[in-house]
Amino acid sequence: MAETSRETAANGKWASARTVLEMQGVHAAYHGDISILNGLSMTVKETCITGIIGPNGAGKSTALKTMYGFLHPTQGTIALEGEEIGQLPPYEMMAKGVAFVPQNRSLFNDLSVEDNLRPGCWAFRSDRAKVARELEKVYAQFPILAEKRGDLAGSLSGGQQRFVELGRALVVEPKIIMLDEPTAMIAPKISREIYAFIETLPERGITVVLVDQNVRQCVRISDYVYILDLGRNRGEGTAETFASDDHLKEMVAEWLDYQID
Ligand SMILES: Nc1ncnc2c1ncn2[C@@H]1O[C@H](COP(=O)(O)OP(=O)(O)OP(=O)(O)O)[C@@H](O)[C@H]1O
Ligand SMILES: [Mg+2]
Repeated sequence: MAETSRETAANGKWASARTVLEMQGVHAAYHGDISILNGLSMTVKETCITGIIGPNGAGKSTALKTMYGFLHPTQGTIALEGEEIGQLPPYEMMAKGVAFVPQNRSLFNDLSVEDNLRPGCWAFRSDRAKVARELEKVYAQFPILAEKRGDLAGSLSGGQQRFVELGRALVVEPKIIMLDEPTAMIAPKISREIYAFIETLPERGITVVLVDQNVRQCVRISDYVYILDLGRNRGEGTAETFASDDHLKEMVAEWLDYQID
């Protein structure tokens, strides 16, 4: 019963939220004309969690990388707050308040936890007092990192490394954070902590784009979910739609080998 009212609330939230990022008919390729995204359209709404699911190789990571400027659309448009950003490089996206945590580990294993967090402070690096304050904020959010601030990042567990990556991305107080499989290969207990943490981001005014293989969790915490395959849209809806629409349920079960409740 509680779940139903939460889903209804999520549905209402999505319907009334403002669009902050919009992809329309995007095609993108890594090499020449071998297109990986084939006309993808997606809307990201303010302080909502927008989930992206789909089978391996569907183009989920490519969709995020294209939104963030690692790849540029060969056709179609990407607008941030109404401004076309499809041809901008990642550092300009960062300057516009968008953060990205990639699927592959992105820490320097031979540097300490603190030295891995410092690049997050790059924009205000000359203000040492602010750097110290912002690092303390990360440690307050993830107390385990405070204990391990001098340890080599490579010595941390996978989940703790994820906390460092999340902390580093959040130092600049982004408007939007893009997370690519934040709990892949992470133990269930820490995964639950990571999902609980992601769920708090909208309350802090942060918009989330979440690519996830964990369909159950992604549908549970997202306000709206897109299903991708072969770089195309294959289905979409709120958690409520996923629970009630037989076609969506079947699609998810068939493609992802997972029977949604
Ligand atoms: N750097 C690259 N160069 C060339 N092709 C790539 C590159 N990265 C991904 N691809 C190809 O693009 C397609 C989509 O890959 P992508 O990583 O976006 O899928 P995904 O949905 O994120 O999959 P997964 O669930 O395995 O992370 C795949 O066919 C993949 O082989
Ligand atoms: Mg991927």
